Amino acid sequence: MNKENFEELHLRGVTSFPFFKPIECSRILNEASAYNLRLAEHEVGPRNVKQRFFEATVQSRSPNIIKAVLDIQKYIYKTMLTYDENVFVQPLNFQEIRLHKYPIGGLLDFHRDDKIFKNVIVSLLLKGDSCFYVADDVSGTNQRLIQAEIGWCIIIGAPGLFGENKQPPHCVANVTKERWTLGMRDGILTPVQA
Ligand SMILES: [Fe+2]
Repeated sequence: MNKENFEELHLRGVTSFPFFKPIECSRILNEASAYNLRLAEHEVGPRNVKQRFFEATVQSRSPNIIKAVLDIQKYIYKTMLTYDENVFVQPLNFQEIRLHKYPIGGLLDFHRDDKIFKNVIVSLLLKGDSCFYVADDVSGTNQRLIQAEIGWCIIIGAPGLFGENKQPPHCVANVTKERWTLGMRDGILTPVQA
């Protein structure tokens, strides 16, 4: 994560950068394969956002996954504080960790994440071919593809970051090879069971 990433996050609410090597992602995926992921509801919220993926909440029995999350958390927190010491509304603390698996053809339409989540939301791409877009509104105006390869982190701004209330609309589309991600959010919503 460099200064450009930091500025992009401030300006547009989203940025991405490489973090893990593919071999490290394989180690995480090994643990992830022990989970029995559940199919998420096909439509959610008042806008009936369409989605098609499987998910599970990460438990403490997965040391490699937990270590990966703590490594990412520490890195992002430390790095961003070197650019601006007031950037976070509270110390970064990822409390909700979820695995997401998108089958070929899976999707998640444009939406904003719940405002209960603070600081930043991070999605680590572990496997697959797919596209992640960010837009100006939930209709997808001015949509922009966010670069992400295996081992990359996508960071999405959440309320409190930079003292603002940005919740940039984003979506997942064009899943041509099964997509696996590890999502981490600062705040707690109703957990999905493993
Ligand atoms: Fe989201």
